[in-house]
Amino acid sequence: MSEEALVYVERNELRELFKTKLVNAGLPNYLADKTADLMIFADERGIHSHGSVRTQYYAERIAKKGLNLDPQFNFEQTGPSTGTYFGDNTVGHYVAYEAMEKAITLAEDSGIGMVGVKEIGHSGAIGYFAEQAAKRGMVALTVCQSDPMVVPFGGTEPYFGTNPIAFAAPRENGEPILFDMATTVQAWGKILDARSKNKSIPDTWAVDKNGEPTTDPFEVGALLPVAGPKGYGLMMMIDILSGSLLGLPFGKHVTSMYEDLSEYRRLGQFHIVINPAFFGDKDQFLKQVSEMVEELHAIKPAKGFDQVYYPGEIQEEVKAQYKESGIPVAQSIYDYLQSDDIY
Ligand code: NAI
Repeated sequence: MSEEALVYVERNELRELFKTKLVNAGLPNYLADKTADLMIFADERGIHSHGSVRTQYYAERIAKKGLNLDPQFNFEQTGPSTGTYFGDNTVGHYVAYEAMEKAITLAEDSGIGMVGVKEIGHSGAIGYFAEQAAKRGMVALTVCQSDPMVVPFGGTEPYFGTNPIAFAAPRENGEPILFDMATTVQAWGKILDARSKNKSIPDTWAVDKNGEPTTDPFEVGALLPVAGPKGYGLMMMIDILSGSLLGLPFGKHVTSMYEDLSEYRRLGQFHIVINPAFFGDKDQFLKQVSEMVEELHAIKPAKGFDQVYYPGEIQEEVKAQYKESGIPVAQSIYDYLQSDDIY
């Protein structure tokens, strides 16, 4: 496969291109602004599965009204530390952000904040929301549903989604630790990214429609869970927390991302925020997380590695690098972003 040429684009320029395209597709300004924030958060950290490659898909879904362009939100506090946030099927990026604000407030007041986010569209690289809370001194966990495209361990038919989990913790000096992963060997967006660049994929990522391993991103029929039964167990846990617990469609009943772009997706997400001050000395906690990072950095790297990184550190390094070089975008996507086309 020949690789597609890349264009290097300055961060703010790229963010503006995302936002303009979404607004031109029909998304109100305030929703497009937060969606563009999430997309640039991903691309500027090298999480290319959730940046520019998604623009055309979002724009088409907006234009076909598969996202609500006039949502009526409803937050209901259901207990001292709990609540539900009804997102009315608009962009998940905005709703999950607002719901995380509610979870942070609950945790500030009561030590814990748990908010179930109901009926939303795709919410992007969900580490954004965990980091949002960690930047306010909280420990946070967020999980969400994704459409069925993963074979359960030992099975041949897709059942769960790539159901991601993100965890963030603040520390005394420096950026929060941010662990953010799909429960598949790779996120679906990495297949899209490989497609956009005409690159082959390792044969451990996915299977074709006959359940055979494939290296061709265009032949992918289903993805594989990370670490076999363990990833499979995690994706089930995530689906129960962000689907069944909130009375939403679960497992194979979750709507498809790409099938009918005029249909609402009704996805769920679940935020858990923990206020360290309610469990011990907050300053000591922040210090200990920093000490942990220092101790990890001091470990002698194994053969073939330059150093031990903390989760999220590689993405911070990429961010610093892209500040100098600009963010790589596939030429065809850049041309699309600059055009008047919606889809
Ligand atoms: P990944 O495999 O690139 O990274 C996973 C985690 O491992 C990250 O926290 C990263 O910092 C850490 N890591 C990677 N290499 C490391 C190293 N050498 N040392 C220490 N830590 C290291 O991420 P993945 O699984 O490809 O997910 C990409 C994104 O896709 C995430 O932002 C996720 O939220 C998003 N996603 C969103 C979905 C949705 O429906 N909204 C569905 C699936 C994924």
